[in-house]
Amino acid sequence: MSEKKLWGGRFSEGTDEFVEEFTESISFDKNLALYDIKGSIAHAKMLGKQGIIPQEDAEKIIKGLEEIKKEIEEGKFQWKKELEDVHMNIEKALIEKIGNVGGKLHTGRSRNDQVITAFRLYLKEETNNIIQLLRQLKKALLKKAEETVDIVMPAYTHLQRAQPIRLAHYFLAYLEMYNRDQERFKDNLKRIDQLPLGSGALAGVDFPLDREFVAKELGFSEIMRNSLDATASRDAIIEFLSNAAVCMANLSRQSEDFIIWNSAEFSFVELPDKLTTGSSIMPQKKNPDVLELIRGKVGRVYGDLVALLTIVKGLPMAYNRDLQEDKEPVFNAVKTLKGSIIGMTKIVEGLKPRKDIMEKAAGGFALATDLANYLVRKGLPFRQAHHVVGQIVGYLTQQGKELESITLEELKKFSSLFEEDALNILNPYYVADARKTFGGTAKERVLEQINYWKEKLGV
Ligand code: ARG
Repeated sequence: MSEKKLWGGRFSEGTDEFVEEFTESISFDKNLALYDIKGSIAHAKMLGKQGIIPQEDAEKIIKGLEEIKKEIEEGKFQWKKELEDVHMNIEKALIEKIGNVGGKLHTGRSRNDQVITAFRLYLKEETNNIIQLLRQLKKALLKKAEETVDIVMPAYTHLQRAQPIRLAHYFLAYLEMYNRDQERFKDNLKRIDQLPLGSGALAGVDFPLDREFVAKELGFSEIMRNSLDATASRDAIIEFLSNAAVCMANLSRQSEDFIIWNSAEFSFVELPDKLTTGSSIMPQKKNPDVLELIRGKVGRVYGDLVALLTIVKGLPMAYNRDLQEDKEPVFNAVKTLKGSIIGMTKIVEGLKPRKDIMEKAAGGFALATDLANYLVRKGLPFRQAHHVVGQIVGYLTQQGKELESITLEELKKFSSLFEEDALNILNPYYVADARKTFGGTAKERVLEQINYWKEKLGV
């Protein structure tokens, strides 16, 4: 205890040390320092322009803030817990630097509109960063898709081999998912990109502020229309966390695929050495830790979302100190999501599919549906065709044989409808290419989708 508080006027004793410790946010909200200064410079400029404070005072304030900014960037600034948060730390430093005129900065402003302005500036920038990172991931997936059009693999339902697909089709599926994630972030930007400053503590401000001017200075596209809403609501931020949670779910799910594919049992892919780690006791292992951590870190981001939803649920209008708790979940989600997207991009770029193994796994009984459909084309009702092929599968399984080993004579024993061309179906490439519906896995359709994305991504 204790620096003289900027709000200390009505208090007759200093703050309890426990309270200082418990209520501080400087340990984490210093992340917002440069955004806070940006907001303050715009505010000071506007106060001077409007004649609310003398122009030369505004200039002194701006110069002081710029010096503080430099000190922060150079790591020279001394953050003090007893000054509570990033806003108070910077304002106090300003007053120490330029004297009492620094106290004019807070004219027509409250920390309630100040904090959410800095937070929105921060989130706008980070959302744009995430959008860019997702673009890199999409490009990596597209490139992998181009490289793997001629690899066939089994696709699974229930983790049982279902039907053959082109591996490229798989990569394009995730491209679609991350594209939607990216669109959600873009859409959310519209609601983040709104200026709260000028709303005061909750009711607006009794000085002739020029909010248009401040919005332009700070690059906000819109001005928040209601001062209660501007200071108290966090729904656009919850939306960000929700988008982050969905994106993490997609990343986690894809991680799981690659973890399975990398196992000795599957051996579908090889992960580059530089992206895996060894075991301290079992020398044979090459562990997919990056993927496991993406999968594991999902829990944090879901937690972040639930934290903020819970924080706002019972809050009376307008600002309450509970809202200080909005920051750490967002910082954590931003860091986790960015790291996970970068990790997945590297994995996708470095991953080496094992064509021989995938191809082999794509054959065999994964072709059974197509054999049934062959009979359907010859006029047999699907249910009966299903039964016939079921019998064939049973017969071969008993003998420990694969579907490809069957001869035309054997097929004819199960149905007289089988002819020479039935044997074509015993090739997974042929079978994959039969799925020519729009959105299907036939080579021509996959190439069509690759071209679509090449145009979209301008590559
Ligand atoms: N550190 C606070 C926060 O993050 C700033 C706003 C404080 N406002 C107040 N009325 N105590 O929300």
